Amino acid sequence: MTTTIGAIPSIEANGAAIPLVGLGTWELRGRTCARIVEQALRLGYRHIDTAEMYDNERDVGDGIRASGVKRHDIFVTTKIWPSHFAPRALERATHDCLMRLRLSEVDLLLLHWPNPQIPLAETLPALCKMKTDGLTRHVGISNFTVALIEQALQIASEPLACDQVECHPFLDQSKVIAACRAHGMATVAYSPIARGSAKNDKVLARIGAAHKKTAAQICLRYLVQQGIVVIPRTSKLERLSENAALFDFALSDAEMAEIAALANRDGRIVDWSYSGNMKWD
Ligand SMILES: NC(=O)c1ccc[n+]([C@@H]2O[C@H](COP(=O)([O-])OP(=O)(O)OC[C@H]3O[C@@H](n4cnc5c(N)ncnc54)[C@H](OP(=O)(O)O)[C@@H]3O)[C@@H](O)[C@H]2O)c1
Repeated sequence: MTTTIGAIPSIEANGAAIPLVGLGTWELRGRTCARIVEQALRLGYRHIDTAEMYDNERDVGDGIRASGVKRHDIFVTTKIWPSHFAPRALERATHDCLMRLRLSEVDLLLLHWPNPQIPLAETLPALCKMKTDGLTRHVGISNFTVALIEQALQIASEPLACDQVECHPFLDQSKVIAACRAHGMATVAYSPIARGSAKNDKVLARIGAAHKKTAAQICLRYLVQQGIVVIPRTSKLERLSENAALFDFALSDAEMAEIAALANRDGRIVDWSYSGNMKWD
């Protein structure tokens, strides 16, 4: 692939400069994963999202090295799984992530899901220590509700850069987005194209036709235009540039309002009962 994309802007979030578009890597593994990461970076992506749970950190690391892009130009996020939230386990898990990625530090280390079985008062200081120990440049949380964000902020001794949550036009996340904003944190949208279903939406397709963009691009633009970071995943090389070409057009206020009206009660894709009922190990 020879096309390149323009520079992707970053958003400032409590000291972290997070590129507004990143590559999601859940379910990408092996050579496919390494190749997509490599090509994304060659195209101009500068932000890669992985997690210990994705079982692909080695492949992500391989892709980063194969790309030839300088390490300090790439923003790498990984996430610690809730079964590793006791302080010593968290420290061990962080070292294991870095060993698999073959990096000396990541840019952002997140708590992947809240774990009701281990007090935040134990986990947050352990997470912050990973920053002061130099294993990550920034720390943050994922799948935290507004109430849990407030709790985390009371405990954390380091600024929290983001809450990574499910976010797309079919789900109203205005409360969590407002809470992040109020505290200088970024909202990082996972499943930002609703696992691909945005491409079938008639409103997004119609607005896309007016801008000569695809429905998926309208969906992603709707988020980045609000300063929300998006991390769409694709296994297809040809979709990498589509998902990042979001900065050469703008949606009108009326188009933004029309897209906001797509939110509905059943819009959530990722099952939250997962969190409450989960066996953490
Ligand atoms: N923190 C968390 O708990 C959490 C949870 C879920 C996800 N995440 C992160 O967020 C990332 C993104 O979320 P996601 O993977 O759930 O879903 P997503 O990015 O919304 O959607 C991915 C799906 O959309 C398809 N797709 C990609 N680009 C497309 C396009 N331009 N047009 C049409 N279809 C397209 C992909 O298929 P092809 O491969 O065929 O292109 C794939 O099936 C994950 O990979 C992961 O890094 C985090």
